[in-house]
Amino acid sequence: MSEAPAYPGLFADLPDLHGAGTKLGVSDVHVWRAHLDLPRERLTELDRTLSAGERDRYRALRSERDRARATASRGLVRRVLAEYTGIPAADLGITYGPAGKPELHAPEAERSEQSRALRFNVAHSSDMLLIAVGRVPILGVDVERIRSVARWEKVARRAFSSEERSRIESLPAELRNAAFLACWTRKEACVKAIGEGVWSAFGRFEVSVEPGLPAGVLSVDGDPVAAAEWSLYHLEPAPGFVGALAVSGSASRMLAGTLHHPEAEP
Ligand SMILES: CC(C)(COP(=O)(O)OP(=O)(O)OC[C@H]1O[C@@H](n2cnc3c(N)ncnc32)[C@H](O)[C@@H]1OP(=O)(O)O)[C@@H](O)C(=O)NCCC(=O)NCCS
Repeated sequence: MSEAPAYPGLFADLPDLHGAGTKLGVSDVHVWRAHLDLPRERLTELDRTLSAGERDRYRALRSERDRARATASRGLVRRVLAEYTGIPAADLGITYGPAGKPELHAPEAERSEQSRALRFNVAHSSDMLLIAVGRVPILGVDVERIRSVARWEKVARRAFSSEERSRIESLPAELRNAAFLACWTRKEACVKAIGEGVWSAFGRFEVSVEPGLPAGVLSVDGDPVAAAEWSLYHLEPAPGFVGALAVSGSASRMLAGTLHHPEAEP
């Protein structure tokens, strides 16, 4: 395959990565999609940009495919952030929040004419990688491969509110699996935005669940007024994948694009 598949979806706004940093408006969020299964030569190039700590962590992964995908993911994240900051990929400092959220080291995040620090978040599922970048206060992204979720009702009982569950259950049977995945990715994008974890913070966000309707945060900690601070976007990065982007703290506009060769040619 010579190029990432041309799926129109929402991923046609950003033509290429080069110069993307200059196109990032103050309330814009850019979402890049890429394949993680890359040719060995490209992987070797990306591996060279990783920190020693990243390399050690990924080499400890058991399966060769997981090692390769972790290397591709972090290498592509560094490649994208290099374009936005003007700092070489290998020199970027990445720090971690208390629940593991990676962030740009503060002086590098703030290196810009603009006043707000550069934020990013990452999600992967199978061979699909999403990288969200913006100068908004906080953002989170999630993606899931669409599959039939065994015993989704049991998972929903543990992870969703009773209102979310009853809205899913009121849908025609053939839509419930898609609604489960839409609800999951929307809630996970929100908890990733605040840098927490699925089980610690899923209950804080009540979201819309209907797969065909616009995504939205309905309440935060039971407060519908606080939900107005949030923008939630439904993502369909490619056939067979569903995702969400959550942004808080300012009005936002999402633009999305595909990392083509030589960034991420499968
Ligand atoms: C963070 C979490 C939601 C990620 O979910 P997932 O479905 O496994 O993975 P995703 O593909 O959606 O996201 C993975 C990426 O999210 C980012 N990430 C990791 N932890 C994160 C967090 N707490 N918040 C936001 N983003 C996070 C990373 O970039 C990671 O990719 P990378 O390791 O290749 O850089 C999930 O692992 C979780 O709930 N973690 C909680 C951990 C926790 O509470 N720890 C307590 C302290 S030990």
